[in-house]
Amino acid sequence: MEDLEARFKDATLGCDDTVVWHARRGPAETLALLSEAATELGIEEWDRYGDGGAVGRLESEVAELLGKPAAVFFVSGVMAQQAALRVWCERRRSHRVALPDLAHQLRHETDGPRLLQGFRFETLTEGWETATADRLRALPAVGDLGVVQLELPLREAGCLLPTWEELTAFSQAARELGVPFHVDGARLWESQPFYDRPLPELAGLCDSVYVSFYKGLRGMAGAAVACTEDVAAELRAWRQRMGGTLFGMTPYALSALVGLRDELPTIGDSVAWAQAFAGELVERGLRLQPDPPHTNSFLVFADADPDTVTERVVSFMEERRIVPSGGWWGARAPGVAMTEVTIHRPALAHDPATVADWYAELTGGVQR
Ligand SMILES: Cc1ncc(COP(=O)(O)O)c(C=O)c1O
Repeated sequence: MEDLEARFKDATLGCDDTVVWHARRGPAETLALLSEAATELGIEEWDRYGDGGAVGRLESEVAELLGKPAAVFFVSGVMAQQAALRVWCERRRSHRVALPDLAHQLRHETDGPRLLQGFRFETLTEGWETATADRLRALPAVGDLGVVQLELPLREAGCLLPTWEELTAFSQAARELGVPFHVDGARLWESQPFYDRPLPELAGLCDSVYVSFYKGLRGMAGAAVACTEDVAAELRAWRQRMGGTLFGMTPYALSALVGLRDELPTIGDSVAWAQAFAGELVERGLRLQPDPPHTNSFLVFADADPDTVTERVVSFMEERRIVPSGGWWGARAPGVAMTEVTIHRPALAHDPATVADWYAELTGGVQR
């Protein structure tokens, strides 16, 4: 298995084109691009401990884009969200946090938010479902929660989104209950086309929202929390306490500014391509979650052995020098292989029907 993973990685390095994710860009190329961007964007000063320079510029741009009074930059989303939830919990004198059981904090953070911040997590949903206002209201002693969080989209559920009606009803319920509403918007930029509403309208439904700069926006790393000025001041204090107020954060912030300039305007096209591709996959008998996809990312399932499909993907990459998909792994059902597809700009140069033919071939022909 390790061998297959290593061969998969080597084969991707030999490719010069990709259907999934962004095109590979090495450190020298990335840093040269940032150097040019510093001049183009007129960034002449370093930030110092997150003040001024590219960080100040980024915080103002993000606050304006999301229609919030302020935004605070963090070098990671994990830290950003610990700080955001902590601010609300301290204010509310309750460390109870309600969120989906598939939330990033419960799946990918080695239990850090509980161990470091003392949060007591309560689950709003189980598995592939979106939270509703009724589910929130049904939580025991719901009015005493420190904060409630939704992940938009819920990545582990195939980047699943609630409908606009469900989301607005949820937001209203949180307001009526007096519970602060935080959004994990790691892929909020990629969710906006689904709602087809301006970002401030979307962000206006919650009290604080975290966004990421290195997924759709292709930055080096980094995140921001958009919120009111008073919450922002508390976030800065928590960022410092967590060791997150680095002496200089300019490279990360600059890469985020480049992402807002160059990548954000293309996200709608990536989502549309993903949806066209999804339709072609379904025609060839592959199964999707969600179907149709809500964003530029979704899960694909096929009746096949995952290692066999991954082997075929490796051979495909060696022959064609194109990355058609990531690795495949076993779904929670016998004989079913799955992968996560995430579409960014490079896919747009390909025909969705042709790529769907590749997937049918790689998974062993038309699936029935
Ligand atoms: C939904 C979600 N939340 C939070 C994070 C954490 O972000 P970071 O990697 O910047 O710490 C991620 C990262 O993948 C994510 O997907």
